[in-house]
Amino acid sequence: MRRKLQLAVILLLLFLYIVLYYIPYKRTMEKTASASLGRVGDGARISSSTPILSSLSSPIIVVVTKSIQNRSDNKPIYNQTVKQTLDLMTLQREFDSFKIPDINCEGIIKGDPEALADSDQKRANVVPDDYTLIKHTANCDYFRKIYGYDEIINTDEEINFPIAFNILLYKEVAQVEILLRAIYRPQNYYCLHVDGFSPDHVHKAAKSLADCFDNVFIVSKTENVVYKSFQRLQADLNCMADHLAKPDWKYLINLPSQELPIKTNLEIVRILTAINDRNSIECITELKHMLSGRFLLKYKNKYYADGVHYSVVLTDDKNPPLPHGMKPVKGSAYGVFTRRFVNYIFNNQVAKDLLEWCRGVLSPDEYYWSTLNHNPHLQVPGSYEGSCKGVLSTYVNWQVTSNYTKCKGRVLRYICIFGPGDLQTLVSRKELFANKFILAYSYKAIQCLSEWLRNQTFSPQRIDEQFYESTF
Ligand SMILES: *[C@@H]1O[C@H](CO)[C@@H](O)[C@H](O)[C@H]1NC(C)=O
Ligand SMILES: *[C@@H]1O[C@H](CO)[C@@H](O)[C@H](O)[C@H]1NC(C)=O
Ligand SMILES: *[C@@H]1O[C@H](CO)[C@@H](O)[C@H](O)[C@H]1NC(C)=O
Ligand SMILES: *[C@@H]1O[C@H](CO)[C@@H](O)[C@H](O)[C@H]1NC(C)=O
Repeated sequence: MRRKLQLAVILLLLFLYIVLYYIPYKRTMEKTASASLGRVGDGARISSSTPILSSLSSPIIVVVTKSIQNRSDNKPIYNQTVKQTLDLMTLQREFDSFKIPDINCEGIIKGDPEALADSDQKRANVVPDDYTLIKHTANCDYFRKIYGYDEIINTDEEINFPIAFNILLYKEVAQVEILLRAIYRPQNYYCLHVDGFSPDHVHKAAKSLADCFDNVFIVSKTENVVYKSFQRLQADLNCMADHLAKPDWKYLINLPSQELPIKTNLEIVRILTAINDRNSIECITELKHMLSGRFLLKYKNKYYADGVHYSVVLTDDKNPPLPHGMKPVKGSAYGVFTRRFVNYIFNNQVAKDLLEWCRGVLSPDEYYWSTLNHNPHLQVPGSYEGSCKGVLSTYVNWQVTSNYTKCKGRVLRYICIFGPGDLQTLVSRKELFANKFILAYSYKAIQCLSEWLRNQTFSPQRIDEQFYESTF
């Protein structure tokens, strides 16, 4: 009799626990997690006003669907769904696992041979990928806290000088996140353009990352970018148009996703202040480096049967001369643009006419900015009166010029892909960013450069304003 009573009490307690605690708890959790992962344009976000999440220790259930592709033709074969309970501790553990332990970055950056040799043996256990990023951004509060976004140092000088960034990418959002973390400040603006041809998970990861910040957004119009096509230029323009809707930024910098900064945001602000409302855009005028084969005859897009995919083909038609008596100038697709210049591009007929001319050009992104910036008679805002100046935005170690710096990483299509041995050179350069890093290959260099940059934010360096003013 007593036994039965005991059993009944235990069962009753169990029943009460399930009804009163476990079911409501589980429901809330699953609802929250699927809301954050669903994100079908409904803007669903985990709001910190949801009581259960305002305490940063509650776990959430994350469901991530991974598309498994055939290695030989990259076609999706099946979907694999992984369900994981994620709490702050698990997130911290997974984030820490990305870090190569015990490497002496300070020594590596000083070029110490021992530190470099020692780092040869070290590897990360896990390199982050887009699916981990989708998972880790499922709860933005957790994500920003664990990844260190909440502790980024910001000064009044920076707050009063917002910068707009375009980031063009087609893969590996995990690397874009590392770039973003290095340049993120709440007052800046970041436009992500994900190539329309990129697989679904790249778009999802970028959206999921952007959704964790008020000032990071996906471009409102996405282009399908083929190498050297006009659409590559259009992608930057789309981001610029979106940026112009934001009121207060002073300069715009466009970046490829495989760059990293070699200056802190504060240094960038001081340098941009020093160049005093001028653009910095590369300028190549010697005939042999102008690659006139790219613009003397017209190029056009030839669309395939699906009407979406295309290739850029050379036609027999001659390109007309440039409008408004401009001479063509070649440069890089990447530059540093004043707000006045970006405004001009969208509002001035001369700029629009040049853009039309660019439709027939191969890699027009390497002509459009430079030509506008180096035809003084146009009086383009922020442009140069005089001769070509240095390239401020990006250091690229091309392995082609007569006396290039030896690449300590790996050379790919004449460009140095940076490794740890290149960092000593990088930190002494005057440019703002360095290109290029490949996530898996450059992983050590990326970790050490990120650590060094973070340290630099604690001890801001004066910059040589005179030098920047006269050189760029
Ligand atoms: C993967 O692609 C190759 C080449 O298209 C094909 O021969 C093979 O059957 C595919 N494998 C699977 C598992 O679909
Ligand atoms: C995988 O999921 C996507 C949507 O996320 C769907 O479009 C696709 O058809 C699925 N593929 C397979 C093989 O089930
Ligand atoms: C960054 O600072 C920490 C703490 O002072 C130091 O241990 C580390 O070596 C520094 N790293 C670099 C790359 O300078
Ligand atoms: C070669 O390198 C030196 C020193 O770095 C530099 O001053 C010089 O301008 C370079 N010459 C060329 C042709 O790039």
